[in-house]
Amino acid sequence: MADNPYKLVNEQEGLSETLGVVSGTQGPHAVDVRKLYRDTGVLTYDPGFMSTASCESRITYIDGEAGILEYRGYPIEQLAEQSTYLEVAYLLLYGDLPNRTQLQKFEQLIVYHTMLNETLKNFYDGFHHDAHPMAIMVGVVGSLSAFYHDSLDINDPKHREISAHRLFAKMPTIAAASYKHNISEPIIYPRNELSYCANFLHMMFSTPCEPYEVNPIAEKAINLLFILHADHEQNASTSTVRLAGSSQANPFACIAAGIASLWGPAHGGANEAVLDMLTEIGDVSHIDKYIAKAKDKKDKFRLMGFGHRVYKNFDPRAGILREVCKEVLEKLADNDSPLFELALRLEEIALNDDYFIQRKLYPNVDFYSGIIYRALGIPNNMFTVMFAIGRTIGWVAHWMEMMNDPEQKIGRPRQIYKGSPRREYIPIDKR
Ligand code: ACO
Repeated sequence: MADNPYKLVNEQEGLSETLGVVSGTQGPHAVDVRKLYRDTGVLTYDPGFMSTASCESRITYIDGEAGILEYRGYPIEQLAEQSTYLEVAYLLLYGDLPNRTQLQKFEQLIVYHTMLNETLKNFYDGFHHDAHPMAIMVGVVGSLSAFYHDSLDINDPKHREISAHRLFAKMPTIAAASYKHNISEPIIYPRNELSYCANFLHMMFSTPCEPYEVNPIAEKAINLLFILHADHEQNASTSTVRLAGSSQANPFACIAAGIASLWGPAHGGANEAVLDMLTEIGDVSHIDKYIAKAKDKKDKFRLMGFGHRVYKNFDPRAGILREVCKEVLEKLADNDSPLFELALRLEEIALNDDYFIQRKLYPNVDFYSGIIYRALGIPNNMFTVMFAIGRTIGWVAHWMEMMNDPEQKIGRPRQIYKGSPRREYIPIDKR
């Protein structure tokens, strides 16, 4: 498609407006409607942003029809196979893969930001003992702005960078502490000699009473899961971070908003919902009943972990995770393979069903991630927290990109008002 201008014509109203085109390096063109309202008094209507590009970005590219996902141009399959999560984090944040020295420096920098301010720990005691870890995450991450006044000037690039490092480095510590609070165990401090992913497992599973050794299979699996979750362009939570940040809010508040958005079952909450669904289905013999429920428009049930706004083909992350799931279950000799067998069969049946074929509904990243987390001993209510840890670097990279964007404006959609027309106030005794 050439990037020739478009014309918006309404002959009855004598409207004829030429609209420019904005093009990226890959992907569809966009019709530039920025001045449409100013010049014509007409708005565009697009709830759910089905046809709207909200910004320019250089971070992640998705071709949903072809099942392609690239971070800064690198295919996700290559990063999953060859990279580490810290290297991917550097790539997302700074735009290029680091050389050895840059990576070492970055790793060191992140390690030295993993501890929490000691008084921040008091916040955990304020939460009910069985609070959902995501609820704790929203609160504690939001509260970080009360602790780091030294880096809150969002107009100072150095402050922005320090805040980015702090958010990324502290997220596993905050997440593991949320879990420890939830199970009434003491919060565990990070250990600087461990990798980012091993450190998280250490803070999750060790106790002060006995030594804990990180299982390298678990560390490798977490590394991969975090790479796959690291970014996904303008999804609901990232767009939430950008919208919050567009008002010049501080980055800790913006990321807390992103976590809140991620929690919903239509987004990151789906990994928890998939496990609940598989447990409810229980047996291969019940699959047909649940497929019928998913197809029944009168039934609210949806096949969790299936479908995606952008992917109308296999989510490339789901394909990678299916293989890893098999490997992790084999190596950890866990007793969850019946759930994996059930998931495989469910996927097979759905992929051969006309309803799913016509609507191009394929397994998404959440379909297999929960089974892996469970095999690693991570409980269901931590699944979305795991997603949040992995996605933090993406949120932070988008916030940094937005803050450096000269075109950045406060995000302020318009609406089509369908309420009452003007009416006069009626005193209460006359109503
Ligand atoms: N099960 C059954 N039917 C489905 C499913 C599903 N999982 N997903 C979509 N459909 C159907 C819809 O009912 C609709 O059918 P219709 O055209 O007959 O009305 C059609 O497919 C299109 O669905 P929409 O809801 O319009 O698609 P949208 O892009 O708005 O939603 C979403 C995408 C939210 C991911 C949806 O597919 C869904 O709810 N999936 C289950 C939850 C899930 O797995 N979420 C994780 C997403 S990935 C992520 O955030 C990491």
